[in-house]
Amino acid sequence: MAANEDNLKKIISHAKEYGYVFQSSEIYDGLSAVYDYGQMGAELKKNIKDYWWKAMVNMNENIVGIDAAIFMHPTTWKASGHVDAFSDPLIDNKDSKKRYRADVLIEEHLEKIRLKTEKDVAKGIKRFGDDFDEEQFRATNPNVLRNQTKIDDINARFKLAMDNDDLAGVKTLIEDLGIACPISGSKNWTDVKQFNLMFSTEIGAVAEAANTIYLRPETAQGIFVNYLNVQKSGRMKIPFGIAQIGKAFRNEIVARQFIFRMREFEQMEMQFFVRPGEEMKWYEHWKEQRFNWHQSLGIDEKYYRFHDHVKLAHYANAACDIEFDFPMGFKELEGIHSRTDFDLKQHEEHSGKKLQYFDPEINESYVPYVVETSVGLDRTFLAILSAAYTEEKLENDTERTVLKLPAFLAPIKVAVMPLTRKDGLPEKAREILTILKYDYNCNYDEKDSPGKRYRRQDAIGTPFCIMVDHQTLEDNTVTIRDRDTMQQERVAIDKIEAILKDKLDLRKVLN
Ligand code: GAP
Repeated sequence: MAANEDNLKKIISHAKEYGYVFQSSEIYDGLSAVYDYGQMGAELKKNIKDYWWKAMVNMNENIVGIDAAIFMHPTTWKASGHVDAFSDPLIDNKDSKKRYRADVLIEEHLEKIRLKTEKDVAKGIKRFGDDFDEEQFRATNPNVLRNQTKIDDINARFKLAMDNDDLAGVKTLIEDLGIACPISGSKNWTDVKQFNLMFSTEIGAVAEAANTIYLRPETAQGIFVNYLNVQKSGRMKIPFGIAQIGKAFRNEIVARQFIFRMREFEQMEMQFFVRPGEEMKWYEHWKEQRFNWHQSLGIDEKYYRFHDHVKLAHYANAACDIEFDFPMGFKELEGIHSRTDFDLKQHEEHSGKKLQYFDPEINESYVPYVVETSVGLDRTFLAILSAAYTEEKLENDTERTVLKLPAFLAPIKVAVMPLTRKDGLPEKAREILTILKYDYNCNYDEKDSPGKRYRRQDAIGTPFCIMVDHQTLEDNTVTIRDRDTMQQERVAIDKIEAILKDKLDLRKVLN
């Protein structure tokens, strides 16, 4: 999928038309960077959550799940560093009056340089075919090497400036790179300023400074402050993990690109508690595990890549992103961070409570190190939706829009349809529906011609359609239509459950 804003527009409008995603408070002209999930979207989102939970909690003996509150004691956020350091470097363009994240402007500039290299590689492949030695080309071609040096220099300058809180240096870098405002084309920039992303509100009746609390900007802290509760009550032994799915809130400045960057969103996070010194082994382990989880969704590997962090967050000693090729290009989908013992030590210090674990195997007490995997639920939703969205030309010169969602995640698994609304076919179809609805989210559809009904189900991504016709009344068989191949197969009604069970079996994707 090339970076393609048109494609994003089509996905947004499809998502609205078929009940996946609506702009929040649309009748009041919407609320920026806030979205609602409709009847299909809510199902898809729930299925993604269940699939993640199954992979992380049910499939791992040493991982348990919790559900912590959104509001936490305000000292939590002082301890975690979010009050002082959870901010983005912002810069305004004086001509367009648009505000940008300085780091994003620089990252987009770097991406342009990377694309030049990819273009050169693509040219080589086109010209020399199988004889093209891509690895050697990347290692020796002067243009590629020059571009890589540029990227490394820019990264190094940016890291140095951020590490030293040198915001003037960040501005100089933007000016030196000749970065222009994407809207006005102007290079007339203000100074760079830090802006804290946490939303605050008051608890209780009296609005005093002491009552200020925050809407959590990450779910992780609910896990850190509970880690000993879980360890003791669950008799967990290190290494063990605590998983959680829940809302997080950030007052994002650059809030565009649909559900990619929202002010209210959901995270699926897992904190893995390990012995100090073993964190790098587990960091590598979880990088691989999480990459495999994304691959298990059946989306081509070329849509994913790793991106190592240059500027590490205040709590990390190693960090990377799994990036996805969204319609607007490669962007972060999941973060994997080695968070050291930073958070637990900070909470020890601010709460005055010991947060040590006694390790019976080595007869020692210590504050565990933490490796975290943190994936955005909404970004996973957008990745799946955008990879699934397909416009197809059919043989008879017609077209169809189909969501080729992984069948096990599809909002509706089976649509049951009577060929006509008479001759007892609807009754027969409802009998089948009654059998299936205990196991699957089904849809009964009798309106319009069969062709129209199939198109409608294609558009919402229903993987299987069962058609009840006159032959059904004679021999108790129906046809099952496959969404992707559009092939119909005639099967006995008493075989349907086994067929669906086989097609939707998670054993085939999760291991
Ligand atoms: N606890 C670590 C943490 O929160 P992060 O990289 O800031 O790390 C993790 O966020 C994931 O949450 C991101 O990879 C992304 O998928 C998702 N995410 C972050 N900000 C988001 C936003 N404004 N809208 C949607 N998803 C977001």
